[in-house]
Amino acid sequence: MSKKVAEGKIVQHTEIAADVYRMVIENKEVAASASCGQFVNLYPRAKHTLLPRPISICEIGEETITLVYGVVGEGTKEFASYKVGETIRISTAVGTGFKPQNTKCAVLVGGGIGVPPLVELAKQLTCEKVAVIGFRDEPFLKEELEKAGAKVYIATDSGKAGFKGNVIELIKEEGIEGDYFYSCGPKVMLKALADYCMAKNVPVQVSLEERMGCGYGACVGCVCKVKESTESGYEHKKVCKDGPVFLGSEVIWND
Ligand SMILES: Cc1cc2nc3c(=O)[nH]c(=O)nc-3n(C[C@H](O)[C@H](O)[C@H](O)COP(=O)(O)OP(=O)(O)OC[C@H]3O[C@@H](n4cnc5c(N)ncnc54)[C@H](O)[C@@H]3O)c2cc1C
Ligand code: FES
Repeated sequence: MSKKVAEGKIVQHTEIAADVYRMVIENKEVAASASCGQFVNLYPRAKHTLLPRPISICEIGEETITLVYGVVGEGTKEFASYKVGETIRISTAVGTGFKPQNTKCAVLVGGGIGVPPLVELAKQLTCEKVAVIGFRDEPFLKEELEKAGAKVYIATDSGKAGFKGNVIELIKEEGIEGDYFYSCGPKVMLKALADYCMAKNVPVQVSLEERMGCGYGACVGCVCKVKESTESGYEHKKVCKDGPVFLGSEVIWND
């Protein structure tokens, strides 16, 4: 995987929920390189934040990509200060994303800042689709998922909006069924969903948003264990290159 970094022009930048920003970046080459479930590396300008910050692609336009990110530390705080018209250093799209399967009914399950990549996935799936999205308190991207044709169910920990509880509880409560699941969110949620899907014998693709180093395959800062028919029964895979999307049934979760 080559490391290709370019300047992108910020053409829209708005706060869509508390400390959650939607940034639209114009760069034809980056947009052309992108597919759903991949991510880009954003490079902060500050010298002390050396490593790039991986952010999933939320929507792909002809000459733009849309990102939705939460402010959690130095890098994302710096990005939040950027104004429309400024430029940002951005890589071309990285990783192995979702493989959309047009089955009978797809269920897209997202948690917090893991919801963004489900929007482009929903746009690309032409089958019936349901999105089940969970947040601590304040939902976002509901309208975008509806616009992409998904019936949306919301869960919040606080009960401020939608169902009070988590996405798995909501799926059970509403009796939501599908023949293919896709998910992105905290690891604990992904593991619970993978267990649920395996028990139901339904496939699930999960996007692992592990902490990363270089962000393009050159270090081993992001490995996870996946089942393989080797002597040890597993192989180490790079989340930034072989993933971030894997089959839920192939990930070894308890490591
Ligand atoms: C493939 C991939 C896709 C991602 N997509 C998105 C996205 O679409 N939107 C979004 O808001 N974030 C996304 N993230 C997470 C995002 O990369 C981190 O939040 C960001 O790098 C934090 O940078 P920072 O400098 O602000 O915080 P730092 O100062 O580096 O860290 C601040 C805090 O955040 C925690 N943190 C940092 N990275 C992660 C991570 N990957 N998972 C959990 N906790 C982390 C740190 O442990 C620390 O507590 C993604 C991560 C990966 C690997
Ligand atoms: S982050 Fe360096 S190899 Fe994945």
